[in-house]
Amino acid sequence: MAVLSLNNPLLLTACILIVNLHAEPLTQRQGDAKYTTTATGKDLFSRQISGLDDAQQDRFIVGKSFFHIPWVEAPSATTARDGLGPLFNSNTCANCHPHNGLGSVYNKKGEISRSYVTRLSIPPNGSKEHQKMLKLAGFVQEPVYGGQISINAVPGVSYEAKPLLKYRNITMMYPDGEKVILKRPLHGIKDQLKDLQYGPMHREVSITNRLAPALVGLGLLVQVTDEQILAYQDIDDRDGDGISGKANRVYSIADKTFKVGRYTWKASAPSALQQSAAAAYNDMGLSNPLFPKENCTKYQKACLNAPKADLQRAGTPYDLPMERLQAITFYLKHLKIPRSAISQKEGEKLFLTIGCIKCHRASFRLASGYTIKPFSDLLLHDMGEALSDGRSEFLATAREWRTAPLWSLGKYEKARGQPPELLHDGRAKSIEEAILWHGGEAKNAQERFMNLSKEEREKVIAYIREL
Ligand code: HEC
Ligand code: HEC
Repeated sequence: MAVLSLNNPLLLTACILIVNLHAEPLTQRQGDAKYTTTATGKDLFSRQISGLDDAQQDRFIVGKSFFHIPWVEAPSATTARDGLGPLFNSNTCANCHPHNGLGSVYNKKGEISRSYVTRLSIPPNGSKEHQKMLKLAGFVQEPVYGGQISINAVPGVSYEAKPLLKYRNITMMYPDGEKVILKRPLHGIKDQLKDLQYGPMHREVSITNRLAPALVGLGLLVQVTDEQILAYQDIDDRDGDGISGKANRVYSIADKTFKVGRYTWKASAPSALQQSAAAAYNDMGLSNPLFPKENCTKYQKACLNAPKADLQRAGTPYDLPMERLQAITFYLKHLKIPRSAISQKEGEKLFLTIGCIKCHRASFRLASGYTIKPFSDLLLHDMGEALSDGRSEFLATAREWRTAPLWSLGKYEKARGQPPELLHDGRAKSIEEAILWHGGEAKNAQERFMNLSKEEREKVIAYIREL
């Protein structure tokens, strides 16, 4: 049929016009030197945004140093940074978030890396204690080991356990006959943990793994309003496109009320401050105003009795006092995002037409007038059984995950010096694998991707690498 021929130049122009009318351009707004950087080295996620005054720059530097310094166990002569542990995973934030980029599943020695964190939860039994945990933390922790496995401890205290990682191969075949082998991590105590130091775990424990995400654009995401996030919710799928989208509602310790969750893989942290405080407490054993106790359960006597930091001398009741916690958060919220330059226009169009854009929403316009392009709706989506981790956090069920922002994803490699490992547990070793794992609400989009020609699939991937 002559009218369908793309050799007809008039018709081609008409098609392009229609596409442009319906979709705003997906490319990052160029030229905003305040928020974006063209740095290409390892420090591309570590650049300070422009326009900070002297006092703000000082704060940025203080925050940066507390993000990077190795903490030491108490007591120590260096009271500014003692109080590590008793139980901990790492002695600095920067170990798990190298150059503010993505963590890795294995370290250089080939061992499971500390940035691959193991979390524990059990089904709630309806008791008052469990109800309280559900309200405040969004899950019920394992009674003896707590909410997270600590792989390290100070002298005199035993670490909790060491992680294990076992896979089952799953073969995916494209309609064109090409095969990809995916590795599905096995779930269960025997497959995920070894060397348990505090006896057996609760029989119904769920064990989930999380890879430390890249810390990109936290200060920009915080400027997206709750209304903007909620406007895209479609909990009952009223528009019938098979995609719902639900905001997480999580307890804000500072506000003593529930707020829209924005950060972490299940959007279970309301603010960068609360997530940083949780990290200080769970990952490093640093007490702080939001998490004031030591990170030990009542069964861990040596942990409870371990020497404490000389807080009298330091003049604060916490290992990490509020002003330092705020400085760390200030630092993270004032980092530039790498600037994107889109040349892959065909990939962009395919990304739209196969429906990736329905969850990886391109943009939000901030009150300042600046438009950010995180490629996420910050909502939770059911991603199917294969991505389920058996654990819910507040409103996020086991199968639900926050749409992972895709901005800068192609640049993670620069910061960490090796190709990125994607999805919440780093199981996908390439962008292609990450797409193939999409199920549940994203099954349609995944199938449409699989039905593309190889050349088209490569264009979608090339486009994502440019975001
Ligand atoms: C042991 C490894 C580890 C350490 C140490 C660590 N983190 Fe993280 N971080 C993680 C993991 C894993 C996640 C994802 C958590 C989740 O999805 O539940 C995360 C998530 C975050 C996020 C949310 C990012 C986002 O976009 O969702 C922030 C912010 C953060 N960490 C800040 C910090 C700060 C500040 C420190 C130091 C006080 C720190 N982290 C120390 C592993 C670590
Ligand atoms: C129903 C919503 C939805 C749709 C549709 C969708 N995604 Fe996703 N995407 C997600 C969620 C949620 C995650 C995080 C899942 C996880 O970590 O387990 C994700 C993760 C990713 C990741 C990995 C990001 C990272 O940092 O680990 C890539 C790449 C990706 N999606 C690309 C695509 C492409 C390409 C399409 C279209 C073929 C698509 N997605 C369609 C929701 C969606």
